[in-house]
Amino acid sequence: MKAAITATAKYLPDSVLSNRDLEKLLDTTDEWIVARTGITERRILRDPEKATSYMCGEVARQLLEKRGIEAGEIELIIVATMTPDMLFPSTACLTQSIIGAVNAWAFDLNAACSGFVFALNTAARFIESGAHKKIMVIGADKMSSVLDFSDRSTAILFGDGAGGVILEPAGEEGYGILDSRMYSDGTTGKEHLYMLAGGSRHPASHETIDNRMHFIRQDGRQVFKSAVISMADVAEEIMKRNSLQAENIAYLVPHQANQRIINATAERMGVDHTKVVSNVARYGNTTAGTIPICLAELDEQGKLHRGSNLILVSFGAGYTWGGIYMKWQ
Ligand code: COA
Repeated sequence: MKAAITATAKYLPDSVLSNRDLEKLLDTTDEWIVARTGITERRILRDPEKATSYMCGEVARQLLEKRGIEAGEIELIIVATMTPDMLFPSTACLTQSIIGAVNAWAFDLNAACSGFVFALNTAARFIESGAHKKIMVIGADKMSSVLDFSDRSTAILFGDGAGGVILEPAGEEGYGILDSRMYSDGTTGKEHLYMLAGGSRHPASHETIDNRMHFIRQDGRQVFKSAVISMADVAEEIMKRNSLQAENIAYLVPHQANQRIINATAERMGVDHTKVVSNVARYGNTTAGTIPICLAELDEQGKLHRGSNLILVSFGAGYTWGGIYMKWQ
């Protein structure tokens, strides 16, 4: 029995940080950011009392309501995040507590921007094996908590947000998550995209703070090249493995890092731009949040129909990348 998505939800904080706002903080321009990334604005969770688990809680409540089930029916909660509230307990356990999912076990999964795709694939195995019937999978990141707002090469790219789904056994054969391919390359990835401090290698100290080691660092050009190649490769592989032609695909749901990366992936697949989901202009890169937010928006707009073929593709720190093929039920 394959696993199918039976509910979607998203949460974006209200506060908007536009490119014009960033012009006041950094040596940058709206024109540069739009031309290089396609991003116009992003959302920021400004309340210092609220962290990633708050956004997960908002998503989780909506998921229960949309599916019409009680929190006690959820058997497993996986939260994909690289900005947990704290190192432990996990943000998944905090989310469990917020909604009162007392019968669930819960854990976080960190695959950075590929977190949701990795978590969805992991959750699907628990459904396929018959171990569980109702799983909540959430991708959420409060990226503003790890951004250096004096670094124009990273501060412009990211935003805060969360999305999630409920995964259950597909009602009928041939529907749900039909194929997936996941990859990691820690050798190349660890050189180009990372946050040095806060873990066991560089625990917080005056030195780590003085050296701004609690912020994201990346070699944008290298990451860009790898993202374009890897996302297009895995998308093409998924199409070939499942004998899918561009015209059979209802939507390509790519990780939202940069419009140029999205365009390059769609081009290699030969998918028409009308079938490519993009909201990077409005939200920037919400890391593990991007793909479930896109799914929730498609769902809200009534664009997901029974039998629609969807391909999800992601790329992120690690490096991590992956693709999922599903037929909407
Ligand atoms: N505003 C204005 N100028 C900027 C700038 C900004 N916000 N950020 C960088 N620049 C400058 C650079 O300093 C550089 O100037 P120089 O030529 O005088 O040295 C110039 O713009 C070009 O920089 P470069 O890094 O080559 O630009 P780019 O076309 O590669 O675009 C990124 C930069 C970060 C937008 C792009 O590399 C990118 O999107 N990479 C992928 C990042 C990503 O998505 N990470 C998450 C992966 S999941």
